[in-house]
Amino acid sequence: MKEKKVFKPCDLIIYGALGDLSRRKLLVSLYRLENANLLEPDTRIVGVDRHAGDRAEFIAIVQQNLQEFLNDKIEDAVWQRFSARLAYLKIDLTQLDQYQQLKAVLDSKARVAVNYFAVSPVLFKDICKGLSHSGVLTTESRMVMEKPIGHDLQSCKEINDAVAKVFSEAQVFRIDHYLGKETVLNLLALRFANSIFTTNWDHNTIDHIQITVAEEVGIEGRFEYFDKTGQLRDMLQNHLLQILTFIAMEPPVNLEAKSIRNEKIKVLEALRPITLNNVNEKTVRGQYSAGFLKGREVPGYLEEEGANVKSTTESFVALRVDIDNWRWAGVPFYLRTGKRLTHKRTEIVIYFKQLPHNIFSDSFRDLPPNKLTIHLQPNEGVDVQILNKVPGIDENIKLQKTKLDLSFSEAFKKSSIFGGYEKLVLEAMRGNPALFLSREEIEQAWIWVDSIQDAWQHVNDTPKQYQAGSWGPVASVALLARDGRAWEE
Ligand code: BG6
Repeated sequence: MKEKKVFKPCDLIIYGALGDLSRRKLLVSLYRLENANLLEPDTRIVGVDRHAGDRAEFIAIVQQNLQEFLNDKIEDAVWQRFSARLAYLKIDLTQLDQYQQLKAVLDSKARVAVNYFAVSPVLFKDICKGLSHSGVLTTESRMVMEKPIGHDLQSCKEINDAVAKVFSEAQVFRIDHYLGKETVLNLLALRFANSIFTTNWDHNTIDHIQITVAEEVGIEGRFEYFDKTGQLRDMLQNHLLQILTFIAMEPPVNLEAKSIRNEKIKVLEALRPITLNNVNEKTVRGQYSAGFLKGREVPGYLEEEGANVKSTTESFVALRVDIDNWRWAGVPFYLRTGKRLTHKRTEIVIYFKQLPHNIFSDSFRDLPPNKLTIHLQPNEGVDVQILNKVPGIDENIKLQKTKLDLSFSEAFKKSSIFGGYEKLVLEAMRGNPALFLSREEIEQAWIWVDSIQDAWQHVNDTPKQYQAGSWGPVASVALLARDGRAWEE
């Protein structure tokens, strides 16, 4: 992560500054960065939108928005500093001529322009054209975009092509907010700074790996978007595959973007295709029915507001993934993610191999394997399950499972850990591309996911029902049971 150490001040221009993504995530993250004194003093934030009349109205909306989404008190002094950075341009993004307004506000000599596309990808082409027409872009300008970057390989390529007409690949920062999460980054440290793991990280020592991204939330008023997308494209194509590449990649030569991306692409290329031939054994699709979550009754997917009652879109997916390379031959990765599951939990569990012989059969008929659990959220941390002797002077040695537990907040005495957006917005402003996705990487992920989606379409079966508040359909238990394994619950 060494490129461009110098953090030049920038103009962070947010297109769609009053849209959902900006209001819920970006502005709140920027305020938090301000609070932590991490924003370069001369950096400005330029909101581009149609919904506020002028700067004063924009600032008032941003303040209200922070009250709603910050989950913390707004500090007066911090707000003064933060609001002083805010500029506003009322632009209809579909109108080429209106982009001329940028000229009056941006100063490319004093500041690098970081163009954050916080709008639906249908507007990406218009923004690219408008920027190009306005003449404000320089070779130093950057653009930031995030999912959905297409809904399949073809549409992803179209978006990438449109962007490539105006920005070179080095100027493009594709966000996956999971790559900004502390524990995902910690995977690099865990794997490549600790010999205990570096030397025990392959098919010789690892039996299998589970990645769970369980969500409590349902569709949250996004039925129209989600129903066209489904959990495979919404969560697995990006977040879970990114986690998987961090776990599975070979050690990169260094922490620079090129080295990390190269290793991640190799993993994506080695994913064994899931096709019509094996889709039934390797995948489970689910859709939630009504149920209870934390004592509250919640509707089923088909009863959500605005639902298409005949929808067969999946809100849950579980997969067995095989990686066909030297390191991971014979080590399955089980991935699952779903909405309206028992509770929000994102974790990676690495199951080490069982020992060949058991000399403690008085305690355990089968010695339980060591397990490394990486908790991504909530309660970021890492723990290792090991077997210890129970203290005592009994005749027999009695063993018990115990945990070496490292909670981040305890270990580092930090009450709150920054979320993914703070980290990534800052990295985009710093111009460090290491934690962003390359075009090749994202297109490779689509190739693999498209094959699953195509197979599902051919098989044409309806998703398995699961009750909201459960761990997903029974078929997902069977997916592991067939291999003699069980999900971590
Ligand atoms: C988004 C998905 O990318 O990630 C949402 O579109 C999902 O459907 C969200 O709920 C989950 O993010 P997090 O950070 O809450 O795990």
